[in-house]
Amino acid sequence: MPSFRTLDDLDVAGKRVFLRVDLNVPLKDGVVTDATRIERVAPTIRELLDRKAIVIVGSHLGRPKGKRSDEFSLKPLVAALSAALGGTSVRFAEDCVGPAARELAGSLAEGEVGLLENLRFEPGEEANDAEFAKSLASLADYYVDDAFSCAHRAHASIDAIARLLPSAAGRLLEFELSSLERALVSPHHPVVAIVGGNKISTKLTVLENLLDKVDHLVIGGAMANTFLHAQGVEVGASLHEADMADTARDVLKAAEAKNCDVVLPVDGVVAAALETGAATQTVAIDAIPSNQMVLDIGPASVAALTDLLAGCRTLVWNGPLGAFEFPPFDKGTVAVAQAAAGFTDGGNLLSVAGGGDTVAALAAADVVDRFSYISTAGGAFLEWLEGKTLPGVAVLTAE
Ligand code: 3PG
Repeated sequence: MPSFRTLDDLDVAGKRVFLRVDLNVPLKDGVVTDATRIERVAPTIRELLDRKAIVIVGSHLGRPKGKRSDEFSLKPLVAALSAALGGTSVRFAEDCVGPAARELAGSLAEGEVGLLENLRFEPGEEANDAEFAKSLASLADYYVDDAFSCAHRAHASIDAIARLLPSAAGRLLEFELSSLERALVSPHHPVVAIVGGNKISTKLTVLENLLDKVDHLVIGGAMANTFLHAQGVEVGASLHEADMADTARDVLKAAEAKNCDVVLPVDGVVAAALETGAATQTVAIDAIPSNQMVLDIGPASVAALTDLLAGCRTLVWNGPLGAFEFPPFDKGTVAVAQAAAGFTDGGNLLSVAGGGDTVAALAAADVVDRFSYISTAGGAFLEWLEGKTLPGVAVLTAE
């Protein structure tokens, strides 16, 4: 059972619902270039409409820092939101509070959706300002949060408003939180985490938190070079943080004490430069030429990870294993992603992934629909992996 309130706990018929979503989507020339986040909240909106609620949607877009600007207006999203809702009428208010917002909230007909202008045009949003939250809350009877990707922000439309109205998680947030709970809070063991990325410094808290929770910790990306260097392996011209060697050794020591198996690459694909189509060579990890850099894991590492995944019940993945934006250095990440998708298809593995680069890498591997859950959250997913309490989740679970 989820430990947070859901739509099942609200009787929304005939009531106004303020629905906080994350419509922070990429736009080019006023057109949405990736509608994933919009499509993912559509089921919650449809359910609310089916249950005869009046839905007022609020979101931020970009970081306008409390000032109005055309660049960050939500107006261009009206068409995309309507399309995601199968042509439902979406009416727009030029402000998120004040007369325009009140006029919209008061005049929506049954079956229509209201979309407010960017919440971050108001300085009160990021300041978690009580008065601003009151103005937002005055538009509705209930508050529903469907924006996990914003849950790490204690902003007025996420935190303060949830204290003013009866509140609950929308279906997307509910699914996201239960997937995350199944992956790390009460998982089936063995659990493997794959953590990639360039720098230990940005992932240190994630690694430390995972040591307590997972059976196998696979380290990939340039971060793996730092761990190899810390163990005395000559990494040639590979990107690594020489000054983090002690930190890497501390992580390895802590892992040993906690019985967590740290998995590093056993071979690598090397090249003289990070370029698409560069001439490559596969070498054992202890034979990296001094003028070459490791840019991907090699086939022996892919085989080892595939074997490891075959014996695991749960996978949590954040960060690609190699420089996947520069083919052929995407091969290792793609192969391991496809192996994970295969085990998930077979019903043996719960696979949960998240983080900006990770979603792009898994999309390139064409496995997005085959993982158990892929979060579109960046910062929030990372903070969750760090074991932090997310304000947007805490406020929904508070009494
Ligand atoms: C995201 O894209 O990760 C969320 O919309 C949060 O955006 P922010 O980092 O600007 O708060």
